[in-house]
Amino acid sequence: MAHHSISSTILISLVHIFVLFTVLVSASISSNNINYQAFINCLSNHSLDHNSQYPIYLPNTSSYNSILNNTIENLRFSYPQTPKPNLIATPVNESQVQALVICSKKYHFQIRTRSGGQDFEGLSYTSQQSLPFIVLNLVNFQGVEVDVANESAWVQGGATLGQLYYKIAEKSPTLGFPAGLCPPVGVGGHISGGGWGNMMRKYGLAADNVIDVRIVNANGEILDRKSMGEDLFWAINGGGAASYGIVLSWKLKLVHVPANVTVFAIPKTWQQGAVSLIHKWQFVAETLPDDLMVLIALSKSNGTTLALFQALYLGGKDQLLQIMNSRFPELGLKAQDCIETTWIRSTMFFFGLPLNGPLNILLDRNPRPKISSKTKSDFVKEPIPEIALRGMWRRVSLADNPLILIAPYGGKMAEISGTSTPFPHRNGTLFHICYEVDWFVQGVDVSTKQVQLVRRLYRYMTPYVSKSPREAYLNYRDLDLGRNRIDGSATYEQGKFWGAKYFNENFDRLVKVKTKVDPDNFFSNEQSIPSLKATNF
Ligand SMILES: Cc1cc2nc3c(=O)[nH]c(=O)nc-3n(C[C@H](O)[C@H](O)[C@H](O)COP(=O)(O)OP(=O)(O)OC[C@H]3O[C@@H](n4cnc5c(N)ncnc54)[C@H](O)[C@@H]3O)c2cc1C
Ligand SMILES: *[C@@H]1O[C@H](CO)[C@@H](O)[C@H](O)[C@H]1NC(C)=O
Ligand SMILES: *[C@@H]1O[C@H](CO)[C@@H](O)[C@H](O)[C@H]1NC(C)=O
Ligand SMILES: *[C@@H]1O[C@H](CO)[C@@H](O)[C@H](O)[C@H]1NC(C)=O
Ligand SMILES: *[C@@H]1O[C@H](CO)[C@@H](O)[C@H](O)[C@H]1NC(C)=O
Ligand SMILES: *[C@@H]1O[C@H](CO)[C@@H](O)[C@H](O)[C@H]1NC(C)=O
Ligand SMILES: *[C@@H]1O[C@H](CO)[C@@H](O)[C@H](O)[C@H]1NC(C)=O
Ligand SMILES: *[C@@H]1O[C@H](CO)[C@@H](O)[C@H](O)[C@H]1NC(C)=O
Ligand SMILES: *[C@@H]1O[C@H](CO)[C@@H](O)[C@H](O)[C@H]1NC(C)=O
Repeated sequence: MAHHSISSTILISLVHIFVLFTVLVSASISSNNINYQAFINCLSNHSLDHNSQYPIYLPNTSSYNSILNNTIENLRFSYPQTPKPNLIATPVNESQVQALVICSKKYHFQIRTRSGGQDFEGLSYTSQQSLPFIVLNLVNFQGVEVDVANESAWVQGGATLGQLYYKIAEKSPTLGFPAGLCPPVGVGGHISGGGWGNMMRKYGLAADNVIDVRIVNANGEILDRKSMGEDLFWAINGGGAASYGIVLSWKLKLVHVPANVTVFAIPKTWQQGAVSLIHKWQFVAETLPDDLMVLIALSKSNGTTLALFQALYLGGKDQLLQIMNSRFPELGLKAQDCIETTWIRSTMFFFGLPLNGPLNILLDRNPRPKISSKTKSDFVKEPIPEIALRGMWRRVSLADNPLILIAPYGGKMAEISGTSTPFPHRNGTLFHICYEVDWFVQGVDVSTKQVQLVRRLYRYMTPYVSKSPREAYLNYRDLDLGRNRIDGSATYEQGKFWGAKYFNENFDRLVKVKTKVDPDNFFSNEQSIPSLKATNF
């Protein structure tokens, strides 16, 4: 007992020293070594019109704090100790993005690109590395242009999914895009990390539906699909664009949705047999028709843990009832549980907004109050025994605000090869689990406790999920899986540790592309793809 507490005290103070050290290092860099004036001159030298002011916010200005505060989406990263950017830039056009890359390279700033800011580890606006860094906030890149005749859309790198969905629906009731469930998520991180949603069994991931892209590379050049070549195009559609450049815009292939879709959400408690329904679901959900996706969300409502069986069916109510009652009669779906609506309104439903409320809430970048959260993920290849699901349920119930999302694969996901994009989790995957714990009270102790809850749940699940590697989803970013060195450098071996989990065999190809297009590792973060040429320190 005594030994235990002594060694944990030592450990805690080592952690404190380490944190203090990091804070001191970054503080000394930010106050002493940076020649802001030269950097600002460089920016104006590289913007076409020398008289215009480059939109930047320095830490010594009052607007810096408010724009930084707006930039932070997860309150786990809004403490005074959280490392802050040395400056925030909000370029208004593509040539200003180019100038930022050229000058940041020259003056040794790391760039963190922020689109929707929803990164689960805050990598788009904070840094746990020692390099001075700039937040490139793409707030002025929110345009969406829909071409109905061509069934495609150009969307700028700072737009949100809600903006994209809204603009598509404004132009056509029978076109949609297969991406995530949460309107405030940005296309920049989401599409470049894969991007799943409730049409993935029919149309695959968001990244599977990209036709073209415009990026700024590490030399400050603008490239499109043709000029970057297929290797780099492959890498940024699922491998995370943050390792390779700055996405200015994507050209997306839109997909067909029926004028009427059907949704339902059926809550089940432990007493109502939720666990045996989840058990049964594992054998059914992945084999259903591609037009139907039945998700499970575990959460707490008034202190009671609930499993919500939520579905999107790309068709009418009668047919959905027929399918459900022959394939999954245990759920007991009734006609009055089903709501026929439009695809765009189904996106409101899945985000928990009133289905008939005003659609323009989809344009809102912060429709809900900000919260703190910690997330981890798993992929499951074999059904989990019912007894283990009971154990999972009990552990989920220990958190005040858990959110466990269980999403079935199969359909189109099984047809796309595991190497066609960097996202490898395809055929053979039954479903993925996203474990999230949310909390509303700020405080280091509260955070520590909540983060521990989700880590314990993850440990408990070890025997029941994918192994060698234990796969994880890049967009459910988790720094517990490993990180690059604090000085920003990265070795292949360190990268492989978490890289194999996110990308499996595709990791090596991602490293090869990185080594070719960004050998000096200009675009880097805690989990960026390493360059083989930049590791000889
Ligand atoms: C509430 C919520 C719901 C979610 N729901 C889903 C879901 O249904 N399906 C799903 O797949 N995922 C979901 N996610 C995860 C989400 O896809 C990822 O967090 C995603 O990376 C967020 O993208 P962003 O642009 O908002 O984040 P950001 O924090 O802006 O960026 C994430 C990463 O991408 C980089 N990046 C951003 N923009 C660019 C750009 N233009 N060029 C280059 N790099 C860029 C950033 O530097 C950072 O490394 C959800 C997340 C949250 C918080
Ligand atoms: C902020 O810092 C910059 C660069 O060091 C300097 O040019 C500027 O005058 C400072 N502004 C204020 C308000 O102190
Ligand atoms: C900007 O351009 C001027 C004139 O071309 C040059 O003298 C100066 O060195 C440049 N400054 C930077 C920081 O690049
Ligand atoms: C970008 O915007 C700046 C500021 O408005 C302007 O001076 C410059 O000419 C623009 N560049 C292009 C290529 O439009
Ligand atoms: C920062 O934003 C939050 C909302 O996300 C708000 O509650 C808080 O008051 C803001 N703080 C400052 C200093 O602006
Ligand atoms: C859209 O345009 C591209 C090229 O301009 C063409 O290849 C494609 O077939 C068109 N798509 C549709 C659905 O018309
Ligand atoms: C959609 O549903 C509504 C009401 O349920 C119905 O009036 C309408 O005809 C349906 N549209 C189509 C295209 O099926
Ligand atoms: C939760 O409790 C509140 C107050 O007791 C009640 O108004 C609300 O309807 C309950 N919500 C649910 C989902 O049961
Ligand atoms: C998926 O894998 C299974 C066996 O592992 C195989 O039988 C099936 O044909 C594969 N499906 C596709 C679409 O490749």
